Amino acid sequence: MTPAGSLLVADALHKSYGPTTALDGAEFSIHPGEVVAVMGPSGSGKSTLLHCLAGIVTPDSGSILYNGREMATMSDAERSQLRRSEFGFVFQFGQLVPELTCVENVALPLRLNGTSRKAAEKAALTWMERLEVDDLGKKRPGEVSGGQGQRVAVARALVTDPRVLFADEPTGALDSLNGERVMELLTDAARTTNAAVVLVTHEARVAAYSDREIVVRDGKSRDMERVV
Ligand SMILES: Nc1ncnc2c1ncn2[C@@H]1O[C@H](COP(=O)(O)OP(=O)(O)OP(=O)(O)O)[C@@H](O)[C@H]1O
Ligand SMILES: [Mg+2]
Repeated sequence: MTPAGSLLVADALHKSYGPTTALDGAEFSIHPGEVVAVMGPSGSGKSTLLHCLAGIVTPDSGSILYNGREMATMSDAERSQLRRSEFGFVFQFGQLVPELTCVENVALPLRLNGTSRKAAEKAALTWMERLEVDDLGKKRPGEVSGGQGQRVAVARALVTDPRVLFADEPTGALDSLNGERVMELLTDAARTTNAAVVLVTHEARVAAYSDREIVVRDGKSRDMERVV
């Protein structure tokens, strides 16, 4: 059963890569608008959990319900439609397209969904203003700083108004000051749109921006009481 009000719920997830067990009974749940930090040591299964929740990796067994629907029963086309329209992604290195300008990068998910160039770039600029990078529109990713690039990547992830934002070490390549600014803007923006945020991080300082923390160890997850 879906816990009341949960948007995304996973239970008893198992995933192995050959002899390596990446997930060993992991569970997860998140509400609309909630920011959940996924913490744990390197190799514990954090990214694998995020990729399963996002429909990028198929678990060997276990259940993932999005909006009450079992992801395993969706066709590949349905899952990729879900990723395009309901999910947003930010990774450690923003993975911006180097040949496109920043505004074209942010507009790209809308363009891929069939939005006209003019409307897509207008929406992109609104998001770039919120992330305080609207002055970088004409620059290419190679011409901006790491922190600016990550804010452009956050704007791109949010431009489609996703219900869930998946962020895997979004500040991992930034110094602490830039990292905190990215986290402030990311969580503010997500709260404005009531997007849920699944935030994978090693850093307690980054996890402090979440509403709740879970810890993954040896492919198993558990809730961690926030120690204030
Ligand atoms: N595509 C893959 N092929 C083979 N093994 C994999 C693959 N992806 C992950 N693993 C293994 O699964 C385990 C969990 O990896 P995962 O990437 O989920 O860890 P993580 O917690 O995200 O680590 P980090 O903090 O270093 O990013 C590790 O032992 C890893 O080597
Ligand atoms: Mg990882």
